[in-house]
Amino acid sequence: MSYNLSSTQNNKIDFLLIEEKIKELEKNLHDNNITEITEYRKWKRDFEIIYGSEYIDIRLYISFALIYFTGHFFISKYILKSSEFHDTKKNFALCIKELQSNIKIRFKDFDLFNFEYFNPIISLINKNCLSPFPPLTRMLTAYLFKLDIEPVYMFDYLIQTIISSLIRHGSGEFYTMPFLVEKMVDNCYNFGERVLDPCCGSGNFLIEIMKRILSSNKLEKQKILAINNIYGFDINPISIFITKINFLILLKGYSSKVKINLLVADSLFPQQFSSRNKVFIKNSLNSYDLIIGNPPFALIIQTQVS
Ligand SMILES: C[S@@+](CC[C@H](N)C(=O)[O-])C[C@H]1O[C@@H](n2cnc3c(N)ncnc32)[C@H](O)[C@@H]1O
Repeated sequence: MSYNLSSTQNNKIDFLLIEEKIKELEKNLHDNNITEITEYRKWKRDFEIIYGSEYIDIRLYISFALIYFTGHFFISKYILKSSEFHDTKKNFALCIKELQSNIKIRFKDFDLFNFEYFNPIISLINKNCLSPFPPLTRMLTAYLFKLDIEPVYMFDYLIQTIISSLIRHGSGEFYTMPFLVEKMVDNCYNFGERVLDPCCGSGNFLIEIMKRILSSNKLEKQKILAINNIYGFDINPISIFITKINFLILLKGYSSKVKINLLVADSLFPQQFSSRNKVFIKNSLNSYDLIIGNPPFALIIQTQVS
């Protein structure tokens, strides 16, 4: 099995230290009036829709920022195969900037860095106002890299480690165990089908399908067509960011040859979304051979009752 939780439990992580550092960061951000900054306010507006206003605070902002910047370390290690990023002597903010411009040039169509929520973190690091942030990101990353988990499942583990289940479960975020994903894909997916996961999270169903396509003995052009038929939506921009990274890790040489159909979208209420996404979702919803995934069932039931 690709996701071995029991072996990860033996791997030590210092939760007390993480907690202490997060508290320090909360204070730093509070002292620098983060709640008045435009990018934070935009993050707050967007994430209130996902998690509800009672959970939106500086602490959750820090958690998502940690996931976002840990994602940069993943890109560096698994996609760019560079060790430079991990050099603690190198300036963190500069490394992030260089990596983003490198990725924007090499993987333009992936549109990976298309939100600005966490720009204030970089500005504050540059002003020496957020000193615990770089070491904490490096510590979490080092911990993840030591786990006995395939890279494409590491984000699920990270999210479950730093965001409380109370918050995640309220928005319908439950991770499907890989054996179940494998079974469902076995039972439902046929090579080349146009397939959608409307609530794809970090992309585990789509990843399984992608793995099967890549390892099949079909011709390269058939594989490319099959990959171009994979679609994923999620309401959470960070989920789509993670799925894109996971796709890049798997695709390797194929990444410049395929189309990436991953979109931030509300699959329950597409009418509330931007007109571009709304038209795309409306036109595409009826046209899949297979819709697969683990949607937020509780939210769907609530929607139908109300
Ligand atoms: C049960 S999780 C499934 C994640 C992943 N596919 C898995 O099985 O591990 C549900 C996902 O639905 C997303 N979600 C919740 N409400 C949504 C909505 N209205 N539209 C699209 N995605 C939504 C959440 O962000 C979460 O990633």
